Amino acid sequence: MPTRILFMRLYLISYILFCFVFSSLAAWNFRSGLARISTVSGLLSLLVIYLIIVSTVAFFLAVGFAILTGGRLFALVNFVAAELFFVLPATLLIFSAIVWAAKPPQLPTAALAAASLTLVIAAALLLGTYLYARFIEPYRLQTVFYQIRSDKLAGLDRPLRIVVLADIQTDSVSDYEQGVFRRTLELKPDLILFAGDYLQCPDRKSYLLQAHRLGKMLNELSFSAPLGVFAVAGNCDPRGGSECFDNTAVQWLTDRSTSLDLPKVAIRLTGLSLKTGRSLKAGPAHLLGRLDSATFNIVLSHQPDFALDLPAGHDIDLCLAGHTHGGQIRLPFIGPLTTFSRIPRSQASGSHQVNGTRLCISPGIGMERLWAPRLRFLCPPQIMVVDLMGD
Ligand SMILES: [Fe+2]
Repeated sequence: MPTRILFMRLYLISYILFCFVFSSLAAWNFRSGLARISTVSGLLSLLVIYLIIVSTVAFFLAVGFAILTGGRLFALVNFVAAELFFVLPATLLIFSAIVWAAKPPQLPTAALAAASLTLVIAAALLLGTYLYARFIEPYRLQTVFYQIRSDKLAGLDRPLRIVVLADIQTDSVSDYEQGVFRRTLELKPDLILFAGDYLQCPDRKSYLLQAHRLGKMLNELSFSAPLGVFAVAGNCDPRGGSECFDNTAVQWLTDRSTSLDLPKVAIRLTGLSLKTGRSLKAGPAHLLGRLDSATFNIVLSHQPDFALDLPAGHDIDLCLAGHTHGGQIRLPFIGPLTTFSRIPRSQASGSHQVNGTRLCISPGIGMERLWAPRLRFLCPPQIMVVDLMGD
């Protein structure tokens, strides 16, 4: 494991311990204040004030520790998650114990019991949310279907099925990924597209081991589709991740196009490099400018940002991408906090009309890891199925 990641984990443990000591001292101080409180509203006010102080201090400590680790945004997310799911529950439990143990005689026992129990319930909810987001939701694989109609596809005898797998992003190829590939084949796709981010390993050695394991798994499953399996580069693998597909049926499609072999309709698939997917201005300008307007043109990219750069009058009918993870963590009423792209948060995943074309973004299969906390919340992993049909 790289030293910087190891240090981040040590800092994380130190942060939690440091906050735990601070919370204990604050709770002890709160105990002295409790003896002077004579009303239930006073008890609640004191409790809220102390909890706000402790959580605010813990937040600024999280920012400080994140800066110590190099100031990465994902490191900050990691420390804030540690505050939310470890520091705050521990603080709530400590304060609950103090409220119940101190039992100041001037306050009604029922009020003390209710306050103590509320703190325990709040701690349990936070811990429960963590356990769900860490161990349950990341593996609640969904299959989502979109239908795309076009008069350019009128010659199709039946819907043409594309399955998009984005952001597998694992550090250990396991039964979960095998289940994803099996389910993909069960969907009987005509075309399978990998939208980047395959492995996120701590070092080169483990990356190559997992890349070999992934390719072997695909071969053992005879992972293929009648019109082919294509992949584009992601941003979390070294060199885009092409090693994952060595000696497999998967074809690498980087800044080039291929025509799909169909008798009555013309469909062209263009795969973008990481650089072009981020910004069309950075990539070969001719790539999307020479497309035939009678052909149904599909563009596959890791990042969806290029769709925002499409010039007026383009001939692109469908854009497929990943990268956003759908935000990975979505808060109720707020939605995803970020898309890590220029795509607006409201379009973090799903099918949207963007810049005169249809843009389908998969929230992905795996999770951001290493610097980031391994969590998915209100944003389960998805196999994205796009059925093309005539209008
Ligand atoms: Fe990703």
